[in-house]
Amino acid sequence: MRLLFALLATGVYAQTRESNPYSLKDAAALAHGKQLYSYYCVFCHGMDGVSGRGAQLASTYRKHGSSDREMYRTIADGVPGTEMSGHWIDEDEIWKIVLFVRQFEAGAAAKRCAAPGDAARGESIFNGKGGCRNCHSKTSRLGPDLAGIGASRSIEHLRESIVEPDKAISRAYRVARLKTVNGESVRGILLNQDEYTVHVLDAAERIRSFRRTQLAELALPKESPMPSYAKTLQASEIDDVLAFLCAGGSR
Ligand code: HEC
Ligand code: HEC
Repeated sequence: MRLLFALLATGVYAQTRESNPYSLKDAAALAHGKQLYSYYCVFCHGMDGVSGRGAQLASTYRKHGSSDREMYRTIADGVPGTEMSGHWIDEDEIWKIVLFVRQFEAGAAAKRCAAPGDAARGESIFNGKGGCRNCHSKTSRLGPDLAGIGASRSIEHLRESIVEPDKAISRAYRVARLKTVNGESVRGILLNQDEYTVHVLDAAERIRSFRRTQLAELALPKESPMPSYAKTLQASEIDDVLAFLCAGGSR
């Protein structure tokens, strides 16, 4: 028994470090990490950390944890049930690879918030002229709360959401357009529908329920409840709003 403890303690079950012994300032370690990465990882993750078929590494989001220790484990043990298998590589070398992957993250974080606009002006457009807060606030049900959105979305995605909202619509916000037999028209977010009824959240955040027999028309067009701002905001104003979202969004 004592022998077993001795073996455990001396590293037969090598306990890895909690954090990376190398830092991004260590050019030699980084260069070696890049070399190892281009050998072991490039096939699935691309040299830019984006173009491969594996998870996007040039990102600040990590599904399997972003601490040094978690990244180490992901690389050493792989992700069960996916193409990402474990790697039988020296501990020292894995840390250098983690270092190289960290450099992608730093790049992604800088790029993410490289919106050229002015965050303070963006905030007043968000609350005022743009009317964004009407739908995007903690209390509104007309759109998702955007607090912290800058941390998880690319600047390209945010820009597209504002100028071309119909391009990618979240499933939670499907538009329903309906006309009743009495001639009333309602456009809203589809909440629920079954064989007999349709429930919609209208622009005033009222829940409207209709029996299907009351409806003359019901359409579920592929459009976002959010209007496009390509024409109503100037390019510089959109940059300002983006800077606001990057800096944390709806406070
Ligand atoms: C055969 C393809 C393949 C190879 C080779 C590969 N990966 Fe992966 N990797 C994947 C896939 C697929 C995933 C996504 C797993 C999932 O669905 O969660 C992944 C996930 C990851 C994650 C987790 C991302 C997250 O969001 O948490 C990291 C980190 C990672 N890989 C790093 C590496 C590194 C570093 C190497 C080289 C040592 C490597 N991978 C080699 C396919 C690969
Ligand atoms: C009429 C309500 C409404 C208004 C006004 C509105 N939005 Fe939206 N917005 C939505 C809804 C609903 C969604 C989610 C559906 C979708 O993806 O299109 C959304 C999605 C977004 C997203 C993407 C969120 C994500 O998770 O990817 C961003 C960014 C965004 N809006 C920013 C803005 C900004 C900036 C303004 C003002 C210039 C604005 N919105 C005005 C309703 C609105």
